[in-house]
Amino acid sequence: MQSFIIKGGVPLHGQVQISGAKNAALPIMAATLLTDEPCTIRRVPNVSDVRFMCKILASLGAEVEFHGDTVRVRAKKINPVCDYDLVRQMRGSICVMGPLLGRLHRATVSLPGGCVIGARPINLHLKGFEALGADVKIEGGYVKASAKRLLGTEIFLGGRAGSTVLGTANVMMAATLAEGVTVIESAACEPEVVDLANFLNAMGAKITGAGSPTITIVGVKQLHGVEYEIIPDRIEAATYAIAAAATNGEVTITGARPDHMHAVLDKLNEAGVRIERKGAVLTVKPHGELRAVDVTTLPYAGFPTDVQAQMMALLTLAPGISIITERIFESRFMHVSELARLGADIELEGPSAIVKGGKPLSGAPVMASDLRASAALVIAGLAAKGTTQVNRIYHIDRGYENIDTKLRRLGARIQRIEVEGP
Ligand code: EPU
Repeated sequence: MQSFIIKGGVPLHGQVQISGAKNAALPIMAATLLTDEPCTIRRVPNVSDVRFMCKILASLGAEVEFHGDTVRVRAKKINPVCDYDLVRQMRGSICVMGPLLGRLHRATVSLPGGCVIGARPINLHLKGFEALGADVKIEGGYVKASAKRLLGTEIFLGGRAGSTVLGTANVMMAATLAEGVTVIESAACEPEVVDLANFLNAMGAKITGAGSPTITIVGVKQLHGVEYEIIPDRIEAATYAIAAAATNGEVTITGARPDHMHAVLDKLNEAGVRIERKGAVLTVKPHGELRAVDVTTLPYAGFPTDVQAQMMALLTLAPGISIITERIFESRFMHVSELARLGADIELEGPSAIVKGGKPLSGAPVMASDLRASAALVIAGLAAKGTTQVNRIYHIDRGYENIDTKLRRLGARIQRIEVEGP
């Protein structure tokens, strides 16, 4: 197992380049299954979830290469079965289901199960496939979907917590090769959904409205190979902005898409963080005293659940009471008890965390529980006095490209070490 040793209390200084968006790369890589022609995807982040998606595509029969930041896939002949051992390791692998159903008219994919951030149901994905005319059964832990023909129709994809990102992606991908017109209502509006739609359109699909709650897909007979560049990772950019603010440093974030980050930038501004914005560049400046703020996570363009944990780490430093309400994954609070080990005063009340901020943090050994929780612990460790050891950092390697190298370039004292144990 690997851990980070962080000697905190050093303000970050310098420049950091943002990688491609993991959550755009995963469905876009899955979408390459829709054609037998070669596809080249650029600015792909070298993170373990992406390497894992390469493995999944290969297990389905595709030829896959990943060099530098470029993934090449040729899915000449593919099979429709995605195994439990693969899906249970990465819930995002469910997004191969739509392309398999679209191209082969059948797909057998293991049910993903829950994870530490919540139940992660896929009922809305399945509702969408059924609406397109697929027969969907659950047998032996697998979802089996098959259809003689896929027929375009109107599909409402709103759920308990609003829209679904991968559900929208899955249904949109299957519908590209359906007969007739599909309209998805209450579609997810996340920039990663727009990126996927742009990728599919570059392959010859006819999709309009992505980025709004109504997406229209006019089915086509076939899709072709394409070269494409992924959007920058808005969650990675937000994480570095918050790390800079938490250490009261001065960091220039390049290659970002500030236009995808309005909710986060607005909230940071309200919390007293000074950020200058110029094109694709954000500069976080040293600030005076931070202010407590209330944050509620919501589907895009609201405050992202994927930045909730990092924001909480920052707000432990802001004098006063901040209330953070999680509306997407109600139990995504595993970082709370670990932040408490660093001296944070946080109380959970249903879907809300009440942060009594302003007390200095001090280093301690802590355990990462999921990707964004680990990022929050790293941020808290950078701000804390003394040494913090973050264990189980394989979680952070799932979604942040070379985070320790990038932070060291900003002056952070962070080392990756091998330790015994699970
Ligand atoms: N939901 C349902 N039924 C469904 C699908 C979702 O009720 O069929 C509910 C979920 O339980 C949740 C809400 O809808 O309450 C939103 O879930 P969504 O489907 O949008 O999540 P996802 O598509 O599985 C993606 C990202 C997550 C990110 C969420 C929300 C990828 C690979 N994953 O998951 O990213 O938190 O959208 O924005 O794109 C991360 O990167 O750390 C991460 C967890």
